[in-house]
Amino acid sequence: MRQMDNFFITTGRKTDGNCIAKAHFLAEKYHARFVYRNNKSLPQIKKELNSTIAVVVKKGKISINTSSGELFFHPNMAQLRIKKLLKNENDNMLTAMDLKQGMSVLDCTLGFASDALVSAFQSKSLVIGLESNPLISLITAEGLGLFPFSTEETAKAAANIRVINTDYGEYLKKIPDKSIDIVYFDPMFRHPLTNSLSFNPLRTLANMSAITPASIQAACRVARHRVVLKENSKSHEFHRLGFPLICGGRYSSIHYGIIKIK
Ligand SMILES: C[S@@+](CC[C@H](N)C(=O)[O-])C[C@H]1O[C@@H](n2cnc3c(N)ncnc32)[C@H](O)[C@@H]1O
Repeated sequence: MRQMDNFFITTGRKTDGNCIAKAHFLAEKYHARFVYRNNKSLPQIKKELNSTIAVVVKKGKISINTSSGELFFHPNMAQLRIKKLLKNENDNMLTAMDLKQGMSVLDCTLGFASDALVSAFQSKSLVIGLESNPLISLITAEGLGLFPFSTEETAKAAANIRVINTDYGEYLKKIPDKSIDIVYFDPMFRHPLTNSLSFNPLRTLANMSAITPASIQAACRVARHRVVLKENSKSHEFHRLGFPLICGGRYSSIHYGIIKIK
């Protein structure tokens, strides 16, 4: 895990041996400090440790407690989208990607992996997910393994996602030309959509930086088939970053920019 301003890992107030062992294991894995809860309140422990963020391990759930609220893994619309795909309905992201079974996907902005789950369902193959925030990366990596997905197909898709805590700018520099079929970006929207309120807790931790033309250039070098950018339909990012094709419903608030690799 990359360096993060100090956070600690603990359990809920009511806990058991399994949760304590899991919290201890995660502290080792993510090089964080494990703290026995000892029935103390989180504000009390935070004050003692001069820390603002706690990762709390409860039975079947891991959450992040920040000064602006609680954050926990949820696949958002992925399960519904996968159910629609199972009924042969269309998914605009997959159309933009032209994603076929067996293709590889590099999801540069993983977040809670909702899009990555849909990609992994369609490709039935590996999706590499990059997330620069260590806590979002932790909660997504662990959540994909813990979440009680409603369909077996979604659980299988989750097992095909590899989470890497890194900045896509750094990662793209290191991988060979034409080594991944689809490179995908879904940056934090510059103009938040009013109907995406469920996504807001993530905003307190998420990397809000804009994509640079150099990153798109690197993505085009790495991709074999397509580079795809998800953005607000009113966004000027498609033009700024040189996406010649845009797909998405006429009345949809979300559009996808496409660069086809020749
Ligand atoms: C809009 S969210 C992605 C949501 C995701 N597509 C989903 O379906 O759950 C954008 C995520 O990308 C991450 N991010 C932004 N810039 C990044 C970068 N340079 N490298 C890696 N991750 C980045 C943010 O921290 C945030 O979690």
